[in-house]
Amino acid sequence: MSQYDVIVIGSGPGGYVCAIRCAQLGLKTACVEGRATLGGTCLNVGCIPSKALLHATHMLHEAEHNFTKMGLKGKSPSVDWKEMLAYKDDVIGQNTKGIEFLFKKNKVDWIKGWATIPGAGKVKVGDETHEAKNIVIATGSQASSLPGVEIDEKVVVTSTGALDLPKVPKKMVVIGAGVIGLEMGSVYARLGAEVTVVEYLDQITPGMDGEVCKTFQRMLKKQGLNFIMGAAVQGVETLKTKAKVSYKLRKDDSEHMLDADVVLVATGRKPFTDGLGLDALGIGMEERGQIRTDTHWATNLKGVYAIGDAIAGPMLAHKAEDEGMAVAEVIAGKAGHVNYGVIPSVIYTHPEVAAVGKTEEQLKEEGRAFKVGKFSFMGNGRAKAVFAGDGFVKILADKQTDRILGAHIIGPAAGDLIHEICVAMEFGAAAQDLALTCHAHPTYSEAVREAALACGDGPIHA
Ligand code: NAI
Repeated sequence: MSQYDVIVIGSGPGGYVCAIRCAQLGLKTACVEGRATLGGTCLNVGCIPSKALLHATHMLHEAEHNFTKMGLKGKSPSVDWKEMLAYKDDVIGQNTKGIEFLFKKNKVDWIKGWATIPGAGKVKVGDETHEAKNIVIATGSQASSLPGVEIDEKVVVTSTGALDLPKVPKKMVVIGAGVIGLEMGSVYARLGAEVTVVEYLDQITPGMDGEVCKTFQRMLKKQGLNFIMGAAVQGVETLKTKAKVSYKLRKDDSEHMLDADVVLVATGRKPFTDGLGLDALGIGMEERGQIRTDTHWATNLKGVYAIGDAIAGPMLAHKAEDEGMAVAEVIAGKAGHVNYGVIPSVIYTHPEVAAVGKTEEQLKEEGRAFKVGKFSFMGNGRAKAVFAGDGFVKILADKQTDRILGAHIIGPAAGDLIHEICVAMEFGAAAQDLALTCHAHPTYSEAVREAALACGDGPIHA
């Protein structure tokens, strides 16, 4: 029986980051992972592979649509789907092996297999029981389906199956206009599939800033994605290599049917805690299946903590990472902290969409007096040079104090630009602080400064 200070269960971004930080803080640490490779959903079947396919298909889109505009003539590249998937798998391999290297470097033991917790301070993997003063559950989440929809990962797929389709479908129906639906829908639309997104609500990407959602949907439509909004999917009938998706329009209850070669179910994810034995331990759970924790990620069982998608909050890899680092510090007797008010979210479509802090809708609901500083990428020379003038930066600041309350970006490199605002918010900055900061020219970042200027005396290039 081996003894550890900490055993982390799960090696996704929450778990592996937590394990590494624990080891760095001098704790004898192991991480249990049942998958053949480390990195969890994010590295193996999520964030990383989807970004590889988004990048490859974006290159194709550029070649097909923008090359001739720059005097680059000749035939557009053809797609070798098997090779594109091999490129994606290679990217996965590099990343998962990277974690293995980091584990060795930091002396984190990888216990291979699926864990159960037979009692406080014990983790059982296969026939072996290990002792741990502290256990961190970082088991992540899994796709949740709909009643009447059976996933076979061939014709009816989750994001996992969508990353490994044997061929590019002619017709794809995406259920749910959330992050996964729009990222993977974009990939297949760029590859020539006829993509129809069926969404229950009247707006795509629920929870995002309303103005961004409208602009985003308009841009995606221009790229060839079809949308059926206000439609509740009733069921999917599978016929060997095809499927029929039935849905009901909410406005008039009329029933409709769509044919598809592949149906992607992207209606959200749910915590994955199967097999851990949490029931028998009496660990408190939230109504929606999340593990209940206190402000220090502790469950009601002494020495057992939980982080990431398995607990409440946005299901984002970086939120899990932050919690992983913070809980490691708590276990090591330090003051671990996560600022939940400054967690960015990014959609890696083209253009990218990024947000942090409050939306206009939230501020209105809270009755807060705020001002809006907005700047279009049309006024940004760098963006115009790369056909990326469509989109904007919007900064929301307190009307009296000028303190930044939120920011919403749709446009080139939005996922990177947002961090300037995250840092500003972390420091409690005012919009004027950003406006007074020199920004290099010509960069997309100038649009952020212009939006900050728009909160005050006004932008220069608008
Ligand atoms: P989501 O929660 O983002 O979106 C699900 C969508 O499905 C919603 O718009 C919802 O209204 C719709 N829906 C639900 N039931 C429906 C029905 N019966 N008929 C039609 N539409 C229906 O979920 P998604 O996209 O599956 O993502 C899961 C999680 O993974 C999210 O928490 C997301 O943040 C995370 N994720 C984050 C990424 C990123 O940060 N770039 C990338 C991929 C996933």
